[in-house]
Amino acid sequence: MEETQARRRVVLVPVPAQGHITPMMQLAKTLHLKGFSITIAQTKFNYLSPSHDFTDFQFVTIPESLPESDFENLKPILFLLKLNKECQVTFKNCLSQLLLQHGNDIACVIYDEFMYFAEAAAKEFKLPNIIFSTTNATAFVCRSVFNKLYANNVLAPLKESEGQQDALVPGLQPLRYKDLPTSKFASLESIMELYRNTADKRTASSVIINTASCLESSSLSWLQRLDIPVYPIGPLHMVAPASTSLLEENKSCIEWLNKRKQSSVIFVSLGSIALMEINEVMETAFGLAASNQHYLWVIRPGSVRGSEWIESLPEEFSRMVSDRSYIVKWAPQKEVLAHPAVGGFWSHCGWNSTLESIGEGVPMICRPFSTDQKVNARYLECVWRIGIQVEGELKREVVERVVKRLMVDEEGEEMRKRAVILKEKLRASVKDGEEFVHFMKTL
Ligand code: UDX
Repeated sequence: MEETQARRRVVLVPVPAQGHITPMMQLAKTLHLKGFSITIAQTKFNYLSPSHDFTDFQFVTIPESLPESDFENLKPILFLLKLNKECQVTFKNCLSQLLLQHGNDIACVIYDEFMYFAEAAAKEFKLPNIIFSTTNATAFVCRSVFNKLYANNVLAPLKESEGQQDALVPGLQPLRYKDLPTSKFASLESIMELYRNTADKRTASSVIINTASCLESSSLSWLQRLDIPVYPIGPLHMVAPASTSLLEENKSCIEWLNKRKQSSVIFVSLGSIALMEINEVMETAFGLAASNQHYLWVIRPGSVRGSEWIESLPEEFSRMVSDRSYIVKWAPQKEVLAHPAVGGFWSHCGWNSTLESIGEGVPMICRPFSTDQKVNARYLECVWRIGIQVEGELKREVVERVVKRLMVDEEGEEMRKRAVILKEKLRASVKDGEEFVHFMKTL
């Protein structure tokens, strides 16, 4: 590593959510391994404490005065809109302090696409800035064209009946209107505001995306139309794994998995944000039990609406859960997916979960909740053909059937074979970020 490069520092600004912090820290580790010094600028929300994995990193807090209740009560889209307004000025102060401390050593600011307040501050101090998309390239394309589609009334079916929503979106096939990255927790107008704000701020030096060209070549080609360079630099969990869990991982499930046969367990986990209604949890429990398969189920505290954990569920729930199952509050997910006993993943299709599953060759049952998860689910089912999407009301018969399709039927076996082929392709395509680092040296 050249002396001059070793002294250069990168300031990274993650969104305060597990699914965004993780890839940002993996990126930080990648850059650190390449010789850059690292500063992580976080807000107080979901604060990631410095751990053994990041001993050389500097952690600073962006001052803001939003109450905790905003974080807890506002839905993610509205919270992000508010956080961006709040941090516009305070991040400038934060950056000016960092410049006093590190001077010309700061090479650039890399910010999560949804922390777009960072762009103005970086520009004010004439620092190069780079957008990091922690979701996939196809969702990034959707966000880039949303404004235009909205203005041209192409998105009108989103407001119409279910039937209309099944139609393919012109230019974005195989996505249907219902697969577009809208949120059921925010109005179309709020989503539009967020996407408009992110797209308006595209004066950055480049865009980096946690994806690989073997997964999304056509979306990445589309992005070449943008007049800034776009780098697929993922999947970062394969480039530089990092311990970033905000919740404590219950590792006892690995011992339970050790006693199960190869590819015999379905892993059920819905990420760090998704919520389920009590009746959906119950239908899932009945369906899983009726499928006669072993299952490892993550039920995150607070993820069942109206319940701290599972205490408000009807009594039948505990009767349903037999020695075929194991329930934890939070699992070491990557380790679980890599375990030979795991043969399928019931997921909400967050992008990290999707990449982690593909990276281990595990086919999926897709039950997306919101935003980019719907895009990922569609790609899993129709493009990579390693997933089955469950649409409509969640009923026990549907759960039982889909689990059997994936875990028992020939159809599932075919998907497992395709998933292994895709895993090998992905592993072969992993780069060490050299091209991007070379670009960073030119900034
Ligand atoms: C959020 C958004 O919801 C998602 O749509 C977007 O793609 C990324 O940001 P989240 O919903 O938490 O993420 O899902 P996901 O992207 O899958 O990230 C969850 C992370 O938590 C994964 O890295 C997963 O390994 C980890 N996890 C989850 C655990 O470590 N243990 C668990 O028990 C569950």
